[in-house]
Amino acid sequence: MMNRTIYILSLAVLAGGCSGGVTPLYKQADAPVEKRVDDLLSRMTLEEKILQLSQYTFGPNDNVNNIGEKFDNLPDGVGSFIFSSDDLHSRNELQRRAVENTRLGIPIIFGCDVIHGFGTIYPIPLAQACSWNPDLVEELSAMAASEARPSGVDWTFSPMIDIARDARWGRVAEGYGEDPYMASVMGCAAVRGYQGESLSDSLRVAACLKHYAGYGRSEGGRDYTATDISLQSLWETYLPPYEACIKEGAKTVMSAFNDINGVPATAHRYLLTDVLKGDWGFDGFVVSDWNAVRQLVSQGYADSRKQAAEKAIKAGLDMDMRDDCFRQYLSELVDEGKVGQKEINEAVRRILRVKFELGLFENPYRTETDFGERCLKPESIELSAKMAEESMVLLKNNGVLPLSKGRKYSVIGPVADDAGAMLGSWKCHGRNEDTESILEGIRNVFGAGVSYTRGCDFDGSDKSGFAEAVAMARRSDAVILCLGEKAAWSGENASRSSLRLPRIQEDLAEALSATGKPIILLLVNGRPLELASLEKSVDAILEVWQPGTAGGTPAARILLGDINPSGRLCITFPLTSGQIPIYYNHRQSSRPDMGLYQDIPSVPLYDFGYGLSYTEYDYGDMVIEKLHGGKYLATIDVTNSGKMDGFETVQWFIRDPFCSITRPVKELRYFEKRFIKAGETQRFTFEIDPMRDLAYVDGNGKRLLEDGEYRVIVKDKTVSFDFTVE
Ligand code: GLC
Repeated sequence: MMNRTIYILSLAVLAGGCSGGVTPLYKQADAPVEKRVDDLLSRMTLEEKILQLSQYTFGPNDNVNNIGEKFDNLPDGVGSFIFSSDDLHSRNELQRRAVENTRLGIPIIFGCDVIHGFGTIYPIPLAQACSWNPDLVEELSAMAASEARPSGVDWTFSPMIDIARDARWGRVAEGYGEDPYMASVMGCAAVRGYQGESLSDSLRVAACLKHYAGYGRSEGGRDYTATDISLQSLWETYLPPYEACIKEGAKTVMSAFNDINGVPATAHRYLLTDVLKGDWGFDGFVVSDWNAVRQLVSQGYADSRKQAAEKAIKAGLDMDMRDDCFRQYLSELVDEGKVGQKEINEAVRRILRVKFELGLFENPYRTETDFGERCLKPESIELSAKMAEESMVLLKNNGVLPLSKGRKYSVIGPVADDAGAMLGSWKCHGRNEDTESILEGIRNVFGAGVSYTRGCDFDGSDKSGFAEAVAMARRSDAVILCLGEKAAWSGENASRSSLRLPRIQEDLAEALSATGKPIILLLVNGRPLELASLEKSVDAILEVWQPGTAGGTPAARILLGDINPSGRLCITFPLTSGQIPIYYNHRQSSRPDMGLYQDIPSVPLYDFGYGLSYTEYDYGDMVIEKLHGGKYLATIDVTNSGKMDGFETVQWFIRDPFCSITRPVKELRYFEKRFIKAGETQRFTFEIDPMRDLAYVDGNGKRLLEDGEYRVIVKDKTVSFDFTVE
């Protein structure tokens, strides 16, 4: 009996703690990560492994779309929690139970939706892409990480790199627009900012690419619906940002809710294993979206939660978010021989690898500081204002802008004094009380002469505020009309059948326009809007987007001309919702001048890449020369011929007019934003790498390059050259 007791005791000591004073390899910080993973994996029981594959929530779940079961009495060995509160003490207590009360002491990884800021909120990602400034995206992502990591978050569920071309889908707000190259550049910038050089840095977090894949193709713009995507489209449009960001080193991926051609993304073996882990060599882990394993049943792909768990893990899903399917059924599935230890070990290995790289075994806890010590530092707020400045897009200006101080302006509209609308969806720990409204920004910058009335609500039919608004307009030199969306009108589960603003807002614009006073329309919204009717009633339109914590002052400074607007659209604004889907990089129709709408124009109101400035930029002739080594150099001179300095973005597109498959009428391949002083000329260049910039990808993900004519397009300039594959 005695021997047996000693034997069991020694096993326990060997497995979890030091045996004879020697620290187990997995606890040795200077040991190679792969060795630590191997060592720890070899010590784990099946139950301990399955717990690592399971994620739950901790803290108030503030995502109204995801009110699911609350799991109490969870075992201490659960591998991950979504950390929704700012209660660092409780977070540390939960971590302590995992690290000190369990046999192997595996720390929890805490995730959170830090989509566009943690405490300081930056402009929504759709706005960030309109800045055409990836360096700024990288900087603000790093700043967001520097608030999140000390706040107990190890891992953000960001960047969202879903291509979206149907703005009825509310989640268009969370991505970088309609173009794969733009989403790739911005997504990579966000990954760099979040992850930095080392994940163990106490001010960095692991990134998460989502929602893999094709979620933005949700039919009819209705969220969560099935998607029908050809392999050609998958590889040409929806996968490139993921491939780019995986190469950039993103550590995690989130599978999407949607079904792709009959197979839900959460159990899509081709995407999760063959492409992501096979072709691309991804060595991080894949987490499902919320309850997405269980949802395989509602999608008709599994007949039970148990079968859902089996299909998901065998397809290559590693972590189950929130529906407890893995924890409830994997052990049984292994006993029944339906799931092998191999699949389990592979998933656990990936999760442990990220936990080791994050340094969680060495630093599982956070110093318990106050929110104000971690967030909303001046440099963070300045960065938010900077991105707001660069992301706002001047869509119309009949000469009424810029305004001048010392005159009388009436600020009118439901958005003007609504801080919540400025934060947009996924505001994380952003607080209205920390957020500057448009009205506050205008009062702050304009000083005297500003009057305000709300005029009407965001929606409804109450016009009782119109009379005061009209009277105030009559007493003013110009009206600054602030219209747009409530924060909850875009984002997840926020699909709209039309992009028009509610009638009441359009009626207010019409009533004010009837006064004959100049109307400057400011829009605060999370998606392209249908402006066909509004556009006629106003003299200028500034797309403010949802600019986050510090958007009021930048908007006001643009109105006064202190800032020359430099935003350009990363997504097309249709003339009407009836044009959807409409995007710039479409394929040519067989009869380009026919088959058009009979009742409305077939061109959008504002194109991808469009945006006005207070100055003019004149583009010289483009020159293309062949370089040694098979590359080409395209150059073009740009002159700021106006009176105001400004930032200009030169957008380089290519076109392959004749190819073995039809190609889009043009494709963005490079862009560069620079400051150009009034009167100054600068030379912009684009070094063309044929395999990178001219080739196309086929439905198997193979890049193919053909001889023939190619065209380089900048603004209205097009230069052709003949290329021969060397
Ligand atoms: C949500 C979203 C996803 C988010 C996750 C965790 O349903 O689809 O983007 O990261 O659940 O909140």
